[in-house]
Amino acid sequence: MAAEPQPQLSEAQIAVHWREEDYYRPSAKFVAQANAGDPAIIERFGEEHFPECFREYADLLTWDTYWHTTLDTSRPPFWKWFVGGRLNACYNCVDRHLATSRNKAAFIWVPEPEDQDTRTITYQELYRRVNEFAALLRGFGGVDTGDRVTFHLPMVPELPVSMLACARLGVIHSEVFGGFSGTACGDRIADSGSRVLVTMDGYYRGGTLVDHKAKADEAVAAARKLGQEVDKVLVWRRHPGQYASKSPMVEGRDFFVDEILADYRGHSVEPVSMPAEAPLFLMYTSGTTGRPKGCQHSTGGYLAYVAGTSKYYQDIHPEDTYWCAADIGWITGHSYIVYGPLLLGTTSVLYEGVPTYPDAGRCWRIAERLGVNIFHTAPTTIRMLRKVGPHEPSNYDYHLKHMTTVGEPIEPEVWRWYHDEVGKGEAAVVDTWWMTETGGFLGSTLPALQPMKPGSCGPGVLGIYPVIYDEDDNVVEAGSGKAGNICIRNPWPGVLQTVWGQPDRFVDIYYRRYCKDQDSTDWRDWPFLCGDGAVQAADGYFRILGRIDDVINVAGHRLGTKELESATLTVAEVAEAAAVPVMDELRGRAVEMYVALNPGLAPGPEIEQKVAAAIEREIGKIARPRNVWIVPDMPKTRSGKIMRRVIAGISNFADVGDVTTLANPEIVDDIRHHVQSAK
Ligand code: WTA
Repeated sequence: MAAEPQPQLSEAQIAVHWREEDYYRPSAKFVAQANAGDPAIIERFGEEHFPECFREYADLLTWDTYWHTTLDTSRPPFWKWFVGGRLNACYNCVDRHLATSRNKAAFIWVPEPEDQDTRTITYQELYRRVNEFAALLRGFGGVDTGDRVTFHLPMVPELPVSMLACARLGVIHSEVFGGFSGTACGDRIADSGSRVLVTMDGYYRGGTLVDHKAKADEAVAAARKLGQEVDKVLVWRRHPGQYASKSPMVEGRDFFVDEILADYRGHSVEPVSMPAEAPLFLMYTSGTTGRPKGCQHSTGGYLAYVAGTSKYYQDIHPEDTYWCAADIGWITGHSYIVYGPLLLGTTSVLYEGVPTYPDAGRCWRIAERLGVNIFHTAPTTIRMLRKVGPHEPSNYDYHLKHMTTVGEPIEPEVWRWYHDEVGKGEAAVVDTWWMTETGGFLGSTLPALQPMKPGSCGPGVLGIYPVIYDEDDNVVEAGSGKAGNICIRNPWPGVLQTVWGQPDRFVDIYYRRYCKDQDSTDWRDWPFLCGDGAVQAADGYFRILGRIDDVINVAGHRLGTKELESATLTVAEVAEAAAVPVMDELRGRAVEMYVALNPGLAPGPEIEQKVAAAIEREIGKIARPRNVWIVPDMPKTRSGKIMRRVIAGISNFADVGDVTTLANPEIVDDIRHHVQSAK
């Protein structure tokens, strides 16, 4: 296997301009009710108490068998948490709340169009639906403990029902974000070896009923090309009894779930008691090279970590109405719409559609009507809402005690709008920094104990000890104003266990760069490379500068440059392709594609459209480039490597750095002239 290229800090990240922001403090009212109100908690998670400090998180779960070893480091970096323990994820999220909270809302689902009734799903109803679907998956779907099942589901209650049904059986779920293309879904089906695909006929988005089932046909075909057969496609119907797709149902392969469920009415399934270390789910994400990687998350460690961080950082109490407006198709939704809130027995709001349709008031109407008191979203959504309705929140009577932002750096002025307008100056705000691989938060302030600082996520969270290294493996000191690669010095229960089916790649990507001794079983020798550039201020707070690998973060979605380039190369006319990020006022970053054509071909809008269409087909609409530039040649090193740094500099009207060592320096001015005059 070729070694993973190691990420490098970009020049923009090294030359960071540091400006201190003022601190904000939470209200006395918030502090008085906070789950983490006593500073002793920081002490309890101090390094000298590692790893036993994480018992406190694990004790939020109900174990069938208690563990005997908190952390086993015998085979680094394949850490094992809560060894010897057994539990069931679905039991912890659902069954154990029935005795006290059977009639309480587990989920409140707000569908589109807006005149549709909101649906409340009590813990009792969730229990019933999950059991029936688990019985169906086992009986009709033929899946069993340890198998993988892929979902390609939108934001409907059927998604958490399907997740929890798998969890009940010890089946590993792998949800593919609904907006991804059928081909992207097929890749993930093949990689995970799923024989069953769970999908839905259609869903609403921005006023349109989107036909979704057609993507399942593409997914099955794409998986087959990669050698994976799908036996059954289980199709939930958005309106049971009616079929919202034009795609024909394939006899013997496609089945309407609502019809088959009739045979499983009232069935229940014993929750399967799983070892703490059994995988709970896979979540695919983009990285440095090649295909997306399946981050494998554990049952015991992951659940403990999301329960603990939901309790202390999001301050979730059982009586709250908590709304995380992310999509369950991303890690944020898994950890902080489904597992975290349900483990704490609270009410989690799900919504279908987009935050700005039919108008800028949708979110605030939902907050008012449902009495939402904790709100969680991404900077891209905040920027959009600020643009379309800067004073809209004041028209609605809602009161938040707590708000979260996640997924991208947030500009201090956007943070202040979020705090002042959305939070009406009453809510504590946490900026949570983490990633798909880490299961839960890595950096944030404890809302009642550590002041907020706009633009900085805060220090490492409880039990997480970050460190910044420079390219020469030296520690970058806090307050030095220098940026470096942020790593986590210690293992923690939420960290991915491996990359599905590729243990070597897992070690290579996350641990090779700063490993001090490959033979050591001391965790101190195995820092985890997060993949972000960061600076640490003198107060210990981190400012995250963005990805150091070949990932472009568009509206909080990770897109791999390699995937964009491979999709572009499926267009017959294209000889070479390079994807670069450009600054985007709303979405943080957007993608621009540079392509060089095969000899003798003339540039033209048809080829540009073909490239955009190919990216949409291979990855999905979210990856559509803002521009496709057809250039006579790419700037290259003498060894033939495309210089993305130079191209990105041109796209962003920035300094391209030294180009004298290029094999073809003259091309830089050509491209600059062509692109900058057209912008
Ligand atoms: C970025 C999303 C700045 C970061 C949970 C990370 C952030 C990538 C923040 C992971 C934040 C996430 N401030 N940047 N608060 N949170 N990021 O895997 O670059 O979709 O590496 O997980 O998003 O994206 P992912």
